[in-house]
Amino acid sequence: MRIIPESLACDYDAGAVRNEEAEVRIEVSGQAAAEYAGDALVVPVMEGEGGLLPPVTAQIDQLLEGLIGRLVGAGEIRGKPSEVTVLHTAGRLPAARVAVVGLGKGDELELIGLRRAMGAAARFLRDRGCSRIGATLHSVNPASAKSEDAVRAVIEGACVGLYTGGECRTQKDLPEEIEQLSLVGLADDRDKLVTAARVAEVAGRATNYARRLVNLPGNEVTPVRLAEEAAQLASQSGLEVELLEPAQIEALGMGAFMAVAAGSEQPPRLIVLRHQGAEGGPTLALIGKGITFDSGGISIKPSDRMHLMKEDMAGAAAVLAAIGAAARLELRLNLLGIIPAAENLPSGKAYKPGDVVKALSGKTIEIITTDAEGRLLLADALSYARQLGATHLVDVATLTGACVVALGHVAAGVMGNDSALVEAVLDAGERAGERMWRLPLFPEYRSQLDSKVADLMNVGGRPAGTITAGWFLREFVGGASWAHIDIAGTAWNEKDQPHQVEGATGAGTRTLIALAEQMAGGIT
Ligand code: BES
Ligand code: ZN
Ligand code: ZN
Repeated sequence: MRIIPESLACDYDAGAVRNEEAEVRIEVSGQAAAEYAGDALVVPVMEGEGGLLPPVTAQIDQLLEGLIGRLVGAGEIRGKPSEVTVLHTAGRLPAARVAVVGLGKGDELELIGLRRAMGAAARFLRDRGCSRIGATLHSVNPASAKSEDAVRAVIEGACVGLYTGGECRTQKDLPEEIEQLSLVGLADDRDKLVTAARVAEVAGRATNYARRLVNLPGNEVTPVRLAEEAAQLASQSGLEVELLEPAQIEALGMGAFMAVAAGSEQPPRLIVLRHQGAEGGPTLALIGKGITFDSGGISIKPSDRMHLMKEDMAGAAAVLAAIGAAARLELRLNLLGIIPAAENLPSGKAYKPGDVVKALSGKTIEIITTDAEGRLLLADALSYARQLGATHLVDVATLTGACVVALGHVAAGVMGNDSALVEAVLDAGERAGERMWRLPLFPEYRSQLDSKVADLMNVGGRPAGTITAGWFLREFVGGASWAHIDIAGTAWNEKDQPHQVEGATGAGTRTLIALAEQMAGGIT
């Protein structure tokens, strides 16, 4: 499997920058763990089980003459989440090493813990020169989870863990890539698990595709470049694509979108992708905020962390990645991907606080701050999705700093006008290993957007800033069933963690794939 897809070649000194070359072969094997003969076999251990080992680990421990048990007894292996201990087997079993990975307390185990543990183990072993690793972590999935979800968690966890970032570094000590990841000990229901592994591989690749797009700088990923990437993705995955230029966006009547784009020399693009997977049925539109750089515009942001606002197209990246994956998986569902892409800069042509703009829906908006730009272009994209026949709308956006205040960098905020769709998004997030939490769109919040000069204002003050942004979007969804995912806190990982490198996370990608998969009635 390619960790980084072919479509994203960086313009920097290509010889030294890892892009297309990294490949991991994923294998689902009926072989017993004790027979696995690669560089390292990854086995689980829980915290605080009084020396009791999970069955697969106990079996390996016997062959190691009780070494794991002794280390657990001595407190050298504690089973803490993502703790990795490597033991050399010295010929006592066919694998050269056993990597004992902590999963935390057994009764607190979640699929997300399996993902992180596998990501941490894969990174740890890769950085120590292992190239073929065998995994058994899926054998300890939490009681509530299905075995195919555990297989997905392990494979996706490894893919996410192995991504290195650093797209534009010309001098970098690149570790050798893992060549093969084998899931061992999968005797029962192998077909189902092979399908799960295939989906996981596509979803893991898609996540890293999104991360790469978000990590690339704003001078590389301009709206035009994002549109070119969409065209390339479309040709590779069999999607229909349409790229609308400024005159067309203007002619459609997207006054809110065009206002945001006005300050930049970089022309905007409206990217429309289509996957026709079914005759009739619902049409799910995935809509992603594509601000390739958000300076705040005339309401300019403080400079200290402004460079991170290249991440403001993370919603767009998630939509591209997810619809590409849906096409590759041939989901039996009609999907639209809609990305309004623009750069938010101040200039003599920029829109200003106090301006009134007219959205595609006909509503007028009083601009209070030019930094609340995402909701403006999303408003027009939501209306357009309805015009194109979407029945269900799900937008993903790095929309509000208030969401970071509310949920930190742990969870995305979810809102919507249809509880069934919101629940489906939360469920998909759970399966995809992305933490999400619902926030209420109580009617009382709506009046914070009331304007004396136009139909509504683009901000509702400091209180409940994520919810009033949600209410703003809701004004543009018409009668469609709609959910909104605010990924402002989860799109960017501030520091290296055992299971993933610093930088873009690909937030939203796997949740959108899982949602589309569920709406399509599964995968064949
Ligand atoms: N792109 C930002 C939101 C953001 C903040 C994303 C932090 C990722 C991390 C958005 O366009 C913005 O600037 N929102 C303003 C809205 C406010 C002016 C009502 C914010 O949250 O400060
Ligand atoms: Zn902004
Ligand atoms: Zn923004």
